[in-house]
Formats: sequence, C-alpha cells, structure tokens
Amino acid sequence: MTNPSLLILAGDGIGPEVMAEVTKIIKWFGDKRDLPFDVSEDLVGGAAYDVHGVPLSDDTMAHAQEVDAVLLGAVGGPKYDDLDFSVKPERGLLRLRKEMDLYSNLRPAQCFDALADFSSLKKDIVAGLDIMIVRELTSGVYFGEPRGIFEEGNERVGINTQRYTESEIERVARSAFELARRRNNKVCSMEKANVMESGILWREVVQRVHDEEYPDVELSHMYADAGAMQLCRWPKQFDVIVTDNLFGDILSDTAAMLTGSLGMLPSASLGAPMANGRPKALYEPVHGSAPDIAGTGKANPCACILSFAMALRYSFDQGEEATRLEQAVEKVLADGVRTADLMQSGDGTPATTTEMGDAVIAALDASL
Ligand code: IPM
Ligand code: MG
Repeated sequence: MTNPSLLILAGDGIGPEVMAEVTKIIKWFGDKRDLPFDVSEDLVGGAAYDVHGVPLSDDTMAHAQEVDAVLLGAVGGPKYDDLDFSVKPERGLLRLRKEMDLYSNLRPAQCFDALADFSSLKKDIVAGLDIMIVRELTSGVYFGEPRGIFEEGNERVGINTQRYTESEIERVARSAFELARRRNNKVCSMEKANVMESGILWREVVQRVHDEEYPDVELSHMYADAGAMQLCRWPKQFDVIVTDNLFGDILSDTAAMLTGSLGMLPSASLGAPMANGRPKALYEPVHGSAPDIAGTGKANPCACILSFAMALRYSFDQGEEATRLEQAVEKVLADGVRTADLMQSGDGTPATTTEMGDAVIAALDASL
C-alpha cells in the first residue's frame, strides 16, 4: 500500500510560515501515529506568478488533480495588486476550486472557550458556539457568464451573472444535510428569494432535496440579509447554514469574526469522490496572506493546523486523530499560549509562530 499523498501549496505572505508548522505536525503523525503521508510541495498565487508568470501552472493543476488532498496556505499581497486580473494570485485559488470541482466549502465557526473574551460580542452569546457554514464554491456569481466590463453607449458597464443549475444546488444541499445528520440535525438555507430568481430556485430545490431525502433533518430558510443579522444577534440558533458562493463568502467572514479570531479558523473544500473513494479535497485556513505581518513570526498557525485536522477527518477517515489534534490546540490555548492576534496590548510577550507550533506538538506528545 502506498501512503496517502498530500500536495502543499504554501503560497504567499504568512502562508509559508504557518505551513512550516503544519509540516512538523504531519511528520509527527507519521512518526508517532503510524500515519505516514507522501508530501510534495509546489507554488501557488504570487509565488507561482513570480516564477511562471501565472498564479497556478498547468503542471501544478494536474498534480493537484492526482493527490489525495491539497493543503493551501494563503494567496495574495500588495506586490501583486497592479497585475492584470487574469493573473492575480486569487485566480490560482479560484482555478483550483473550479477545476477540481470543489463545490462544498465547509467553514466551521467555533468559539474556543479560552478565547470567548476576544469576540466583539458578549461572552454568553458566543461561548460554546459551534456552527458550520456550507458555502457553494464552484458556481454562482463568481463564475457565471456573461461577465466582463463592456462598452455601452458612451460609458462602460461591469457585468457579473448569478447562475445556479438545479443539480448544483442539489449537490451542495445534500452535503449540508449529510453534515447536519452528524451534528445537531438542523439546516438553515440562506438566499435572497425575495429579489432573485436564482434564490427562488435555490429555496425550492433545497426544500425538495429535504422532503425527498432528508425529512428527518430540521430545515428552515432565511433571506441572507436577515441571516447576517441573526448571526450577530443569536448565533447559537444555527447548526449548519447552507448558502451560495457570494453570500457564503460574506456570511462566513461574519461568522468567523464572532469567534474572536480569524487566526483560528480552518476550512475544507470538497468535491465528488475519486476512484479511491476519497473526495477531491483542498484544505486551507480562512485567514488570508496577512502581508503586513509576513516574516515577523507573529502569524498564528492554528487555522492551518486545524485545516490539516479537517483533512484527517474528511479525506483520511481519521476522525479520532483529527480530534486528538483539535484537542491539542484547545489545550495549548487553555494553557495560555497566545500568538499576537490572541492578545490585547499589555498582555505580555506573544508566542511566535514556531513556538505555537511547538506547543501543539508538545500537547500531541502529552496526549499519547
Ligand atoms: C475566501 C476568499 C476568496 C473568495 C478570495 C481570496 C478569492 O475571500 O476564500 O473567502 O472570495 O472566495
Ligand atoms: Mg472570503
């Protein structure tokens, strides 16, 4: 049997620094838990542009299609702001999502007890929060045609198209209902059926998939704007939220902020099963490339580490080992280890990226 394969695309900004900590943890699982991975590394985003003139080379794309899972750090930075739209770092990430057909993007928003004070909301509103946003990732206004900037009379017009087929809605709805069954059995679907035809279809299809295949799951519908409001008012009313690509982008940032730190949140982007039964998959932290702190040792590696935990759970069927890693992170936080993003001024000296990674490894050792 060959080892499962991982492709690491560390990318730009703090991506390589946080990924260096994940690499240590991958090695730990090989050494201490007899879970060896074949790891390869390649470029994405601005780092790929610098070498190849494109944010994702065809070779890297082909390799991503073959591996069991891709781990991505972050893409983008001010250095690339003036590049043509077609070669901006973000296009590399969007190409991976589209060509791997990663339609189901899982974004957990979980409030760690030790960090409840960091939320901008009152502690009792966020303590114990554990919700999962399922964002459709390969369609909608991100990819719909026609799109572009066109001449119209004596001015220009910018056009993007919101477009969803029934099958695109069905598959992401199924993925949300399946997840809900393994959680608290509740799904809230969000769209704007009051103003958008694509929203009317979205609501109808989610309801039909529910009635025909998942009648045991509790389903509700909300307009996305009201959903944003409810997320800030009383987020614990939600279990799984399923929504489209653009609303999911916005709502997941809102949900992330409730938890107090963007530096803690992982994500998984999953597609259809491959021949070996594993889903096509890419794992990445929710935070971006944070160019302002890149190279300073301030980055929090936890979101990237927890993204690897999601890989253990969703790609490699290692739920117990995923929990072990998540608990190690929780223990480190409970012990008071804090990177700069998890501190207020006057709180003392923060742990560096490397120290945080080492503390997680020590907690993993202690778990044996
Ligand atoms: C995200 C990001 C991306 C998106 C960008 C970097 C293209 O905001 O993953 O949420 O808009 O999807
Ligand atoms: Mg976003």
